[in-house]
Amino acid sequence: MRAVPSYAARLALAGAAALLGHSAVFAQPGQGTSGEVNVYTYREAKLIQPLFDAFTKETGVKVNMISASMGLEQRIAAEGVNSPADVLLTVDISRIEDAIRLGITQPIRSDFLDKLVPPALRDPEGHWYGVSMRARVIYASKERVKQNEIAYEELADPVWKGRICIRSGQHSYNNALFAGMIVKHGETKTEEWLRGLKANLAQKPSGGDREIARDIAAGKCDIGLGNTYYWALMLNKEPDKKAWADATKVILPTFKDGGTHVNVSGVVLAKNAPNKANALKLIEWMLGEKAQHMYADMNYEYPVRSGAPVNTTIAGYGVLWPDPMPLSMLAERRKSAANLVDKVGFDH
Ligand SMILES: [Fe+2]
Repeated sequence: MRAVPSYAARLALAGAAALLGHSAVFAQPGQGTSGEVNVYTYREAKLIQPLFDAFTKETGVKVNMISASMGLEQRIAAEGVNSPADVLLTVDISRIEDAIRLGITQPIRSDFLDKLVPPALRDPEGHWYGVSMRARVIYASKERVKQNEIAYEELADPVWKGRICIRSGQHSYNNALFAGMIVKHGETKTEEWLRGLKANLAQKPSGGDREIARDIAAGKCDIGLGNTYYWALMLNKEPDKKAWADATKVILPTFKDGGTHVNVSGVVLAKNAPNKANALKLIEWMLGEKAQHMYADMNYEYPVRSGAPVNTTIAGYGVLWPDPMPLSMLAERRKSAANLVDKVGFDH
């Protein structure tokens, strides 16, 4: 492990944010440390369980978990005032926005969290906070791609004709990046860019991020888009896919006038949370030093907390400069991005 400048520290360098202290100031609920908290999560149960076990060991609060890959916001909405949900953990800004739109959240009021989480990675009203970050980056052939820098805008450059692989343009990871492009350059320019990117594809959009590395390793394409953690997982934890990571390298791209596109794994407090004090305790604990370290290391994500170490493999990509665009701004353009993907026939 080695520490790299945190998101907030880098924003502070850029004059955009200041970062404060480290001591955990948990809201003291008064009812002691027992009881339970109910978490609905899009994170895989086995990925998140060790974290909750550590929380229970420290606080005595039992964590009950419901894990699913879709429909959790709708479920909480349908359960209404009787919903047992205290906390919803998501892996993407779009689900967080859905939760807010459905009215199933309540503001989390915590000075502690406001000090720790940079403004771009939380809701101004406190309806959600980022817990960890992932970046949308380039996987590139070690053999055929010599450069180590690239701008997202350059993906439409004809120099890449027939050399790019990508998953569906409608997948939320790509959709969020395209929404970011709209925020940066507007819809007309983004449409042009998308057409250029489509013209550079080696094959129809398909597979997931891991398959992009697979196809690069097989020589079908030279570069493609993937999230930061998949590459680390293939390298370190998926022996059958290690060769795909070995054949590729990770380049941290940036927008021409900005940083690298990031998304968040975030947390919301359910509107009718029956165990609100314990929910707040858990949320604040997840931004604590220990949890941030564990989270980053187990899931190969970037901690949002200042000074928390980044996993060695992830740190090996270079220093991440997250684009300072507020994620809420990006969420507003997702529908436009989806429409553009259809308009240019990106997936066909
Ligand atoms: Fe993922």
